[in-house]
Amino acid sequence: MPDTPIRWGILGAGNIAHKFADAVAQDPDSMLVSVASNTPGKAAAFAEAVGISADESYQSLVGRDDIDVVYIATTHNFHTDNAALALNHGKSVLIEKPFTVNAPQAQFLVDLARDKGLFLMEAIWTRFLPTMIELKKRLNEQVIGEVQHMNLTFGGFAPDKYRPRLIDPALAGGVTLDMGIYPISFVCYLAGELPVQVQSLCQFSDTGVDERATYQFRFASGMTASIATSYNLKMKQEAVLYGTTGYIDYPDFQSGSAFAIHHHGGTNDVDDSAAVQLDQADNGFVYQVAEVVRCLRAGERESPLIPHTETVAIMALMDDMRQQWGLRYPFE
Ligand SMILES: NC(=O)c1ccc[n+]([C@@H]2O[C@H](COP(=O)([O-])OP(=O)(O)OC[C@H]3O[C@@H](n4cnc5c(N)ncnc54)[C@H](OP(=O)(O)O)[C@@H]3O)[C@@H](O)[C@H]2O)c1
Repeated sequence: MPDTPIRWGILGAGNIAHKFADAVAQDPDSMLVSVASNTPGKAAAFAEAVGISADESYQSLVGRDDIDVVYIATTHNFHTDNAALALNHGKSVLIEKPFTVNAPQAQFLVDLARDKGLFLMEAIWTRFLPTMIELKKRLNEQVIGEVQHMNLTFGGFAPDKYRPRLIDPALAGGVTLDMGIYPISFVCYLAGELPVQVQSLCQFSDTGVDERATYQFRFASGMTASIATSYNLKMKQEAVLYGTTGYIDYPDFQSGSAFAIHHHGGTNDVDDSAAVQLDQADNGFVYQVAEVVRCLRAGERESPLIPHTETVAIMALMDDMRQQWGLRYPFE
């Protein structure tokens, strides 16, 4: 693809589409062309605020020939159909997390994109943050020796704007697909592999979705991880990584720009601590936008930072946990 701007379209004019539009506007190699909504008037209002055009149906947007890549910003339950629509019209696709609701849907999209020769990626934006890339580099350099355990908590009282879809089984609600996916992705990315053993528990909401959950992982390397997450409980948003010669505190691990490295050299006494502070954009979505642009220009059909096999495997991991809990969505 020549170095002309990458032309974006958005399906779904809800909460997250606004933040994404801002990120595209900041990317010098991108241009946001249009947004489509199935809700009458919503696309027009969004488009007017952002200064782009509007399509009054998804079909109309994917049929345009002035769009290269479509960002799927609908609720999880619609991701598969919306992404398939775009792929079947020759568009590359970036899908909000979770990629789909379950692994068979994810595999279907991966196969479709491969058959069509198109780019496809899950918008797990945290992976592309400079801080995450630096953290991975430091771990590879064994800055805390061999990582033995990770402990992550990630929770809060969901804002009113997110609550309706979070509690609704018909929209694939629940904390695991919405929030748990971040710490799961975090540990798998840093471990460089998927866990070989998984144990989990969840507390259901009155509406029958997972409101709070804990996951325990063991990896082939021997590393373990413990995660707790909730959309209805204020929790510290932090990751602590424990290695053989030190540990790392990463507060605000989902989007923060700083972490601290503490060395103990294999004893119970910390010898020294060092802060790592990175320059990171306020809207962290800009890094995933840049990665999509890079991939499209390089002719890559998936990002090496979030390969399709990993996206599908993490969906399967979450399927298995939901099956253990007896959480099946009404449309599954
Ligand atoms: N990366 C992040 O930080 C982040 C943050 C929040 C959300 N997300 C992800 O982004 C996606 C959208 O989340 P959101 O909070 O933006 O969702 P939302 O505003 O509640 O809904 C997004 C769009 O989905 C469609 N929709 C919602 N509820 C519907 C219903 N009951 N029936 C039919 N269509 C419905 C609408 O599309 P139309 O406009 O076409 O009517 C709506 O504009 C989710 O998959 C979520 O996981 C990511």
